[in-house]
Amino acid sequence: MNILILGSGGREHAFAWKIKQSPRCDSLYVAPGNAGTDKIATNLPIDVLDFQAIKKVVVAYDINLVLVGPEVPLVEGICDFFKKDPQLNKVMIVGPEARAAQLEGSKEFAKDFMVRHRIPTAAYQSFSSLQLDSACRFLETLQPPYVLKADGLAAGKGVLILDNREEAIAELKHILTEGKFGNAGNKVVIEEFLKGIELSCFVLTDGKNYKILPTAKDYKRIGEGDTGLNTGGMGAISPVPFATSGFLKKVENRIVIPTIEGLKKENIPFVGFIFIGLMKVDDNPFVIEYNVRMGDPETEVVIPRVKSDWVALLEATSLGKLNEIVLEIDVRSAATVVMVSGGYPEAYKKGEIILGLDKVHQSLVFHAGTKEVNGEVLTDGGRVLAVTSFGDDYKESLEKSYNSIENISFKNLYYRKDLGLDLQERM
Ligand code: AMP
Ligand code: GLY
Repeated sequence: MNILILGSGGREHAFAWKIKQSPRCDSLYVAPGNAGTDKIATNLPIDVLDFQAIKKVVVAYDINLVLVGPEVPLVEGICDFFKKDPQLNKVMIVGPEARAAQLEGSKEFAKDFMVRHRIPTAAYQSFSSLQLDSACRFLETLQPPYVLKADGLAAGKGVLILDNREEAIAELKHILTEGKFGNAGNKVVIEEFLKGIELSCFVLTDGKNYKILPTAKDYKRIGEGDTGLNTGGMGAISPVPFATSGFLKKVENRIVIPTIEGLKKENIPFVGFIFIGLMKVDDNPFVIEYNVRMGDPETEVVIPRVKSDWVALLEATSLGKLNEIVLEIDVRSAATVVMVSGGYPEAYKKGEIILGLDKVHQSLVFHAGTKEVNGEVLTDGGRVLAVTSFGDDYKESLEKSYNSIENISFKNLYYRKDLGLDLQERM
């Protein structure tokens, strides 16, 4: 079949790399893609929010299956657009409809959903701009640190954690009345701070059946020792060494099953990925957030560990036959280290020449922000490459990625050299 992947990051390159290995894949397209996807698929210069342009290529190239990478087209209703269009409604599309994508698109919706289905999460209340006074009063009932979340999509920047109440009140005003996060901040969720360690669980569901994919842990902060600004993710490992089988059973029983059942009960058809951000508090899982897509860079460690045919999985998901698939997972560990442009997540330069990609032999190099110009691969984003390796454990896989990185260079490159050290301290 002919397949189209929407997106342009390391996640989409990892999807393309895996899909390309399937005998079920005839032609593979990525829109807009990057220099990495260009080597294994046909890139199409289309914005993921330009639904009419996407329709044109789906019809022109006789696409049978579309895999949506990022959240914004999902929240904006790309799946609804396909379902309503007579020329597109036979095309299999893996991703939730807009209503279901609210699990990521609105923190308030997600929290209310969790409460309705008794899914463990931090205590919270949500407030609109007309309720600033009640929001401040609610803050006074909480102990620091204070967690403030813009309700809508804010490109991963909408969560503030503050130690001081005055500062929290000032930020609350910035968000609710001064538009700090634009429309995403029309409402704010204020919640209890959960102290623990984070990990992510990925579920693929056809709305009735589900498969739990390997767990992963990502490193969100730019600086070593988990300091500095939040990023999209500076690296990831899979599996998560502290996620024991007993803990994962709790995740399945207390969170995954009630989430799938809750969606069913509320008649919200969900076809696609549910990425559950978890906090392990003592030995109990709490949901920090839902996303309605795979994570990036988590995909760059989860996908390489999936041994089953990815196209068969996607097809079964879209046809409601996920129960017919056996999910096979590689027992080895995988780790990825993200190489970024100096300055990221703030201002950074693009267009630097990347050298040494051909010298990497023991790792997979997934491109994130790259483009090819006249035969040269150039940096084209904050996150540039994700270097993934396998090992017997996370330490060995990280070591291989760090060795591979030694071969790659571009001006002002930066990566965190401390991934995994936090786990050694815990073990
Ligand atoms: P989110 O965008 O909801 O994933 O939040 C971003 C980050 O903020 C998370 O990855 C956590 O590190 C942190 N965070 C969010 N909510 C809480 C909470 N209730 N308690 C502690 N940390 C949190
Ligand atoms: N790495 C976090 C995310 O994809 O949201």
